[in-house]
Amino acid sequence: MKNFEQFIGSFSFDWRLAKVDIIGSIAHVQMLVKTKILSSSDGKKIIKGLQSISKDIENGWKLPKQEDIHYAIEKELIKRIGTVGGKMHTARSRNDQVATDLRLYIRKEINDIVKMLNQFQSVLVNNAEKSLDIIMPGYTHLQPAQPILASHHLLAYVWMMQRDKERLLDCLKRVNILPLGSAALAGTSFKIDRNYVAKLLEFDKVTDNSLDAVSDRDFACEYIFVLSLIAVHLSKLSEEIVVWSSVEFGFIKIDDVFTSGSSIMPQKRNPDCAEIIRGKSGRVFGDLMAMLTIVKGLPLAYNRDLQEDKPPVFDATDTIKLCLEVITDMMKSFSFNKEKTVKSTEKGFLQATEIADYLARKSIPFRTAHSIVKDIVNFCIKSNKTLDSLSINEYKKFSKNIEKDIFRFINIGNIVNAKNSIGGTSKKSVLKQITDIKKCIK
Ligand code: ARG
Repeated sequence: MKNFEQFIGSFSFDWRLAKVDIIGSIAHVQMLVKTKILSSSDGKKIIKGLQSISKDIENGWKLPKQEDIHYAIEKELIKRIGTVGGKMHTARSRNDQVATDLRLYIRKEINDIVKMLNQFQSVLVNNAEKSLDIIMPGYTHLQPAQPILASHHLLAYVWMMQRDKERLLDCLKRVNILPLGSAALAGTSFKIDRNYVAKLLEFDKVTDNSLDAVSDRDFACEYIFVLSLIAVHLSKLSEEIVVWSSVEFGFIKIDDVFTSGSSIMPQKRNPDCAEIIRGKSGRVFGDLMAMLTIVKGLPLAYNRDLQEDKPPVFDATDTIKLCLEVITDMMKSFSFNKEKTVKSTEKGFLQATEIADYLARKSIPFRTAHSIVKDIVNFCIKSNKTLDSLSINEYKKFSKNIEKDIFRFINIGNIVNAKNSIGGTSKKSVLKQITDIKKCIK
């Protein structure tokens, strides 16, 4: 068969595991020396050789291609230090080795992504603090519903990111378990010390079943799922940016560098970055589907299908990191257009619920109150009026229970500030949210 080597190989993508592969091998060799499976002088030679390869790779040297990264490093080691290099692979297999590498790789990425999420949250909180006096319409079904603080809206995303961080750190508990020492599938008869390797590599513990250990990729599925939810959240925020920056809404401004013009329509400023982030979510979901499909129906233990796990893990990681970088920068340049948001609160009868609540407080059953206010709103639509431009006499035609104080109740600022329940949109509640979330951002 032509191209067989290339077909079964994974070097074209798993070269990215070089660093963690060497870290894992050094710990393995240290353990082999400690347990006297390997002599200390052999161990030293191997470790020195591995360190020199690692340094060269860091300096941009290209490791010669082999079937996969594990063979490439072993071959290079033997080339540099002689046949003693071949002793490195005692008491292990590529199966437990690759599972270890992937865990080390994902662990590092989880920590990086948590850091990026913290930075993104800080930027959003900073914007929320700057927008504490800006009122905008809150929506359901993208129909104007009730007035809210713009800060409140931004903070909703900060809480999503908080859950994303929590999910990543929870996933880390399952990632940070060491499979090395499971060998090909059955464990090994060498008197190895797995716990020592776990300690060296800072894993929380070692896996309990060698068959499960070499075939388990649940942690990778879980990791990409968590990244998929991050993609969902970034996509939702991007959608809002697209809508809010439209001429029709005009609620926000973002720096021109995050937009582009049109080749034929000179007036256009398209929110490309937000659109691309929204679109990139598709890639990450695709990675999740790929990962789930790869592991589905595999008999125990290792199967070569598992080699296909790395491209989706790498792609989802790269995509999320890139999107987080761009959206964090974009949100640094973000500001609300106060005039426009406030103007929008005048449309859409945002006070309607308040009038119904007002009547309900006067012992009118809420259902009846709801229907009275529906009539009032219909009247406003017909006569082209707003709820605050109606006279008290006009109100009284719908319910004699409506008094002059109604105007205090339907003042947009008062409506917002009355929403004092925990998690509500009043300035007081929002300030409390800011204090609380700040404690979660490192
Ligand atoms: N390149 C392989 C992978 O990524 C390494 C493990 C190979 N193991 C085997 N039994 N052929 O999964």
